[in-house]
Amino acid sequence: MNRTMKEKKIIVLTSGRGSNFRALIQAIELGKLNATIHALGTSTPGSGAVKIANDAGIPVLIRPSETELTQFVRENSVDAVVLAGYLKILSREFIDALRDARGVSRIVNIHPSLLPAFPGLNSYRQAFEHGVAITGATVHLVEPAVDSGPILDQSSFRIDEMKSTEEVESRGLEVEHSLYASTLNWFMGGEYTIEKRGARIHVARS
Ligand code: GRF
Repeated sequence: MNRTMKEKKIIVLTSGRGSNFRALIQAIELGKLNATIHALGTSTPGSGAVKIANDAGIPVLIRPSETELTQFVRENSVDAVVLAGYLKILSREFIDALRDARGVSRIVNIHPSLLPAFPGLNSYRQAFEHGVAITGATVHLVEPAVDSGPILDQSSFRIDEMKSTEEVESRGLEVEHSLYASTLNWFMGGEYTIEKRGARIHVARS
C-alpha cells in the first residue's frame, strides 16, 4: 500500500449483521485499507452491525435521512459512502449530490453475484437454484437504477459441487470480505481510469 497517500474517510451504511463492515474494520487494522470509518449508518437499530460499531468505538447514525447523510458527508469531507447490505433504495438526488468533480458516483456497493447476473435480493440463493457452475461478488458504483452502476471489480468461485445455499453464502462472504477492502483501497486512492463504452462508463484499475 502507498503509505504516503492521504488516509481516506468513509461512512458505512448497512441494515443487517455487518460481516462486511467488520471485515472493513479488520482490513484497516491490518493496513490493507488506507481509510478511517467515520460512522456507521443503519436502518436497523438492533442489528449486529450496531454492536460491532459500538465495540469498535465508531459513532452510529440511526435511520439517517438522505439530507442528514449528505450533511454528514460534506461536514466531515467523507470520500466514499460504502453500502454493505443496506436495504434502502437511494434517490437520484442523493446520488447526484455526492458525485465528485468528474461526475463519478461516490457511493460504492457490494452485491453477492457476478452482475449483471442475479440482481435484487437473495442472489446466492438465486445462483444456487439456477444451477450455475460459477458465481461470485461484485463491487460497483451506485447509480439510480439498482445493481446497475459501473463495475469496479468482481471475484468468482465455483459452486457446482456445493449442496446448499448456505454453503454458497458462506464461501461468498469470505470472497466479499477480501474483495471489498482491496477494491475500495484502489478506488479511493484514485488508481483508476474512466472510459466511455457505448452508453456505459467503464472504470478500470490503472
Ligand atoms: C452481503 O452478501 C452483501 O453482498 C449484500 O448484503 C449482504 C450483507 O451481509 N449486499 P453482511 O451484513 O455484510 O454480513
